[in-house]
Amino acid sequence: MAKARSEFVCQNCGAKYMRWQGQCRECGEWNCIVEVPAAAVAPTPGRQAAVRAMSGFAGAAGSGIKLLSAVSARTTARLPSGYGEFDRVLGGGIVPGSVVLIGGNPGAGKSTLLLQTVCTLSQNLPVLYITGEESLEQVALRAQRLQLQSDRVQIAAETSIEHICALAAQARPAVLVVDSIQVMHVDGIESAPGSVSQVRESAAALTQFAKQSGIAVFLVGHVTKDGALAGPKILEHCVDCSVFLTSGNDPRFRTLRCQKNRFGAVNEIGIFAMTDKGLREVSNPSAIFLNRQEVTAPGSVAMVVWEGSRPLLVELQALVDGSPYGNPRRLSVGTDQNRLAMLLSVLHRHAGLQLADQDVFINVVGGIKVEETAADVPLCLALLSSFREKPIDKRTIAFGEIGLTGEVRPVASGQERIAEAFKQGFTRFIVPKDNAPRRTPPEMEVHLIKRVNELNALI
Ligand code: TYD
Ligand code: MG
Repeated sequence: MAKARSEFVCQNCGAKYMRWQGQCRECGEWNCIVEVPAAAVAPTPGRQAAVRAMSGFAGAAGSGIKLLSAVSARTTARLPSGYGEFDRVLGGGIVPGSVVLIGGNPGAGKSTLLLQTVCTLSQNLPVLYITGEESLEQVALRAQRLQLQSDRVQIAAETSIEHICALAAQARPAVLVVDSIQVMHVDGIESAPGSVSQVRESAAALTQFAKQSGIAVFLVGHVTKDGALAGPKILEHCVDCSVFLTSGNDPRFRTLRCQKNRFGAVNEIGIFAMTDKGLREVSNPSAIFLNRQEVTAPGSVAMVVWEGSRPLLVELQALVDGSPYGNPRRLSVGTDQNRLAMLLSVLHRHAGLQLADQDVFINVVGGIKVEETAADVPLCLALLSSFREKPIDKRTIAFGEIGLTGEVRPVASGQERIAEAFKQGFTRFIVPKDNAPRRTPPEMEVHLIKRVNELNALI
């Protein structure tokens, strides 16, 4: 008799192996490979439940081969969430039939953000809020305390995916919120809620349900200690957008950042303030990151970085200090460590700044992460300023990329950056020559630079 075949599947990333091993070679996760009978890989209970619940919706089944141009893309108008910052992160609003995963630490405000969103949406659209973690009374209490319009919000406390699909098929909401995916379970799977197989199956079922019904689904996801989404990696693969709500150094503010978006750019951020009345949008985020002292100390400079589709003014700080050890430290918080090493070499070679016996620390104020090369010029200015102990004029703003040969290169959206900084009251500009402002009002002092050594004269 033929031996019953089985395979070994990584519960984190789905990689398959011939035999068991302790660590998955694909994703590096430990103890995540389990033996499954080969036949059991076929349709799973969760997806079957989703299909059953779907029977009331048209256009569900597979439809054979078509020409792409002949597929009528349902021109789906995006639904505004009622929060401009949230909409921008999602790429311009909620796409019907999409699945959005919202991750974040406990207490980040995921439940608050989604409750506020459904309450706003419910004024025009049917919505369904599924709470698996909090009781109905707790949610009601929160809505009451935040003075939200909750009279049209449909809500249920439920943790079974089958029941959720059935409830949603019956209520036919435009937006379904499931808080959270880690407490959901699919009948017919042995493992406990929160385990990899339960999370994967629950997410797969809800994704299938969303795609076929056109209901936009928000899933709340927990994160692990090191900040990654708890659960299988495929969770992030199967959703359309994955956004993170995080708090930076300042506990009053929350940043919403997109990591994956099938319907828009991923580099957008939205900024909210957590108040006693819930989350409030921050319409002028530059004001937070640029909360500067009256007198500037050496080593501090303001810069304009481009975040998604808008400029953001951020303060950059550098500290250059004699190193007591033979091996000086180079540390950067908020910017790229390797880029710092490169710029130190460029400054040495092309601007005569010798820091080989100095510790160098870089910090971007406000806990924001700057990945743009436009931060090169401000970084060099801050280093020079700290080393020489000469403060930079408080009205100064800088941006620009620096190349290995010491040349200063232009960056994208230079005009918009200059306009934003001018609007915020900056009048002294240190910018690449090719980013020269088109219009210079009399109070504007512009220094156009072509080579990194020209920075020496500006400190
Ligand atoms: P919550 O949405 O429950 O977090 P999550 O679902 O991401 O775990 O947010 C709770 C936190 O937000 C909690 O630490 C208290 C704070 N908070 C306020 O400061 N003001 C408010 O009005 C609310 C509702 C919460
Ligand atoms: Mg919560």
